[in-house]
Amino acid sequence: MKTLSFDPIRADVAITEKEKSAALHANALLHNGQGAGNDFLGWVGLPSALGEEELQAIETEAARLRDLAEVILCIGIGGSYLGARAVYEALSDPFNLLHEHPAKPILLFAGQNLSEDYLARLLAAVENRSIAAIVISKSGTTTEPAIAFRLIRDEIEHRYGRKEAARRIVAVTDRSRGALKTLADREGYRTFVIPDDVGGRYSVLTPVGLLPLAGAGIDIRSLLAGACEMERATADGVPFDENPAARYAAVRNILYQQGFMIEILASYEPQLQYLAEWWKQLFGESEGKQGRGIFPASVTFTADLHSMGQYIQEGERTLFETVVSVADPEHRVKIGTAPDNLDGLNFLTGKRLSEINHTAELGVSLAHADGGVPNLRIEIPSIDARSLGTLIYFFEKACGISGYLLGVNPFDQPGVEAYKKNMVALLASPASKRGPKNYAGNCNPLGCCDRRTQEDPTFRPNKTGVKIFVIFTPVFCKTTTIQSKVHCRKPPPTQDIFLE
Ligand code: PA5
Repeated sequence: MKTLSFDPIRADVAITEKEKSAALHANALLHNGQGAGNDFLGWVGLPSALGEEELQAIETEAARLRDLAEVILCIGIGGSYLGARAVYEALSDPFNLLHEHPAKPILLFAGQNLSEDYLARLLAAVENRSIAAIVISKSGTTTEPAIAFRLIRDEIEHRYGRKEAARRIVAVTDRSRGALKTLADREGYRTFVIPDDVGGRYSVLTPVGLLPLAGAGIDIRSLLAGACEMERATADGVPFDENPAARYAAVRNILYQQGFMIEILASYEPQLQYLAEWWKQLFGESEGKQGRGIFPASVTFTADLHSMGQYIQEGERTLFETVVSVADPEHRVKIGTAPDNLDGLNFLTGKRLSEINHTAELGVSLAHADGGVPNLRIEIPSIDARSLGTLIYFFEKACGISGYLLGVNPFDQPGVEAYKKNMVALLASPASKRGPKNYAGNCNPLGCCDRRTQEDPTFRPNKTGVKIFVIFTPVFCKTTTIQSKVHCRKPPPTQDIFLE
């Protein structure tokens, strides 16, 4: 059976024996639990450990939701969102809604932003559709999904009544803790558990991803079969040369040490765009800490050759490119002959579009490598559930290994808290209840100033369109993400003050 392959196809990387054994050691740490973050290693054996009983429970619940609703609203953010979206977008017909009989149910996503327009339009779009909701949050307290859920729950209760709402809402959350779990117990929602030892961005193969995907009619058994295959291919004890995840992790770390700080995940299939979003979260949150880490970026070719192509070819030489290539598309489209041949493309007559796409891929890879952008290549047989399962586990395993090679804990995300603290404190402050206020100049009454104002007393950020922010305590002045923009001349006497 064809399966995923990894090839550092155009990267001038010689992997030493020491580097190979470091990668294998990192892989072993993921299996023996001796590395950092070892209380979050539940995902390592997850594909093969998922029992028939749990799988059936997910499928039964998914079938029940499918019978109930034309649209399933899937509420979550980050790791509680991106995996399901990645697989759903990859496997769904992007033009589904235009068909006379669209495939149902349709999965729509909420809780991944705070956009008023997005949510208003979403609720308006489902006004005449039967709906159900899957709300996903491990902590049960994340602001974005909590707000979206509040509004969607109101809508469901308003439409169907509280009792029926309990049949239409399913919660995926912690086994015993959190506001969502408390609410689900009180309202009698069916619940599915996110295992304690699986962090958000590694959770797509738990009910976090499996329930909404099964709800949308996706073959989650094939997804898991693919993941199992990669679990075996990257098991502890598999030699380095046969372990694609260890090889990918080793190569990207060698490139990082050579100064390639940015990895671009490139694909020639627009349906993989959300897979790239999931990948960015996986690697970005796992590796970007302690002042280290490859910056994960993504492009969809050939579209982005006409936007990012110039930079990739000739910009700063700190990029390397990892192409996810799809061997066989599902459909066949051949180029015809034009009698006038005005576009000069008759030489392509009879060729399949995929042949041209693959040729573009080769041409781009050669050009980018010539331009100083090392090229790595991952090939999957096709965009199907099994291949995606393989790819997901491949990336998860590579990310764990890579994080350990980099010397960080790939399973925490302390930096994510900074914005949450600010946002929640700002929203809760009496000042914010009065609404945003633009203080004259750029110093607030308590002495916190935009640094630019001190350097140039005539500087008025509001004239240049800089927004108004709020800060609250002297501690925040020193320690938050706002730090780069402000500092305090004197300690504020109260808890709540304004800035920017
Ligand atoms: O990977 C992570 O841990 C995060 O991206 C979380 O998944 C995200 O913040 C959502 O958290 P929660 O599931 O607790 O709502």
